[in-house]
Amino acid sequence: MSMTEKHKKLEKNVTLLGVAAFATVTIGGIVEIAPLFWIDNTIEEVEGMRPYTPLEQAGRDIYVREGCHVCHSQMIRPFRDEVERYGHYSLAAESMYDHPFQWGSKRTGPDLARVGGRYSDEWHVQHLQNPQSVVPESVMPQYGFLAETPLSVHDMGANLTALSRVGVPYTDDMIENADADMKAQANPMADTTGLSERYGETVNLRDFDGKPQKLTEMDALIAYLQVLGTMVDVNAAAAQEELASEKGR
Ligand code: HEC
Repeated sequence: MSMTEKHKKLEKNVTLLGVAAFATVTIGGIVEIAPLFWIDNTIEEVEGMRPYTPLEQAGRDIYVREGCHVCHSQMIRPFRDEVERYGHYSLAAESMYDHPFQWGSKRTGPDLARVGGRYSDEWHVQHLQNPQSVVPESVMPQYGFLAETPLSVHDMGANLTALSRVGVPYTDDMIENADADMKAQANPMADTTGLSERYGETVNLRDFDGKPQKLTEMDALIAYLQVLGTMVDVNAAAAQEELASEKGR
């Protein structure tokens, strides 16, 4: 039987065609899915990425609680208009410790993936208290109460433990010291040697809300906003990522 005849037979027999199609799709599926069982991580790791400090993470929880994510995304797409407005496009590794992630393209306000360091703490306090005082036509709600609300987290160590269970590399040392580190980061009088050892020298250590005697929800939220997009040297990391994917090809 020639090849064409074989093919004719296959095409005319529904059962045979079904079985052959099933086999083809199965092989294709296995080839795509199976490697995922043997590699630990599909994300190219980049230098500089670290888990959030307890204060930043507490700020992130407030960010989610207040629904900031309803109007703001944290994902700069690799399009020219976005890159020109917000900076280098986001790398996958930059949100590898985010639970829940803040990706998305629906924006009422600007993308915040690289807002860290763009404004002063004072600007953030004023803008959060009264966005319209900075941008008169802003539709952003006012969050002044955050500056009046003491930051009260029942057990930050438990929060870090939960995150470590889903893959954020918090050490036992970080978890044990979570409550103390959370308070120390925004307290200019505190001993922060341990905190710097655990999270690195680049952590922002200062009072964020303009009230050094008080630890407020505003402190936590601004500590979080000020670190967004600042951990990774993106240009170096993107070059490294490109190189790695070229090698993979
Ligand atoms: C109803 C939608 C909405 C919500 C909810 C919202 N924002 Fe905004 N936000 C905006 C808009 C619109 C702007 C642009 C105008 C302005 O600067 O106020 C903005 C601007 C900002 C900026 C300045 C960004 C830049 O690059 O200039 C920051 C920072 C910010 N918001 C943080 C937050 C935080 C933190 C929360 C939650 C506590 C929040 N927003 C909640 C709509 C919103």
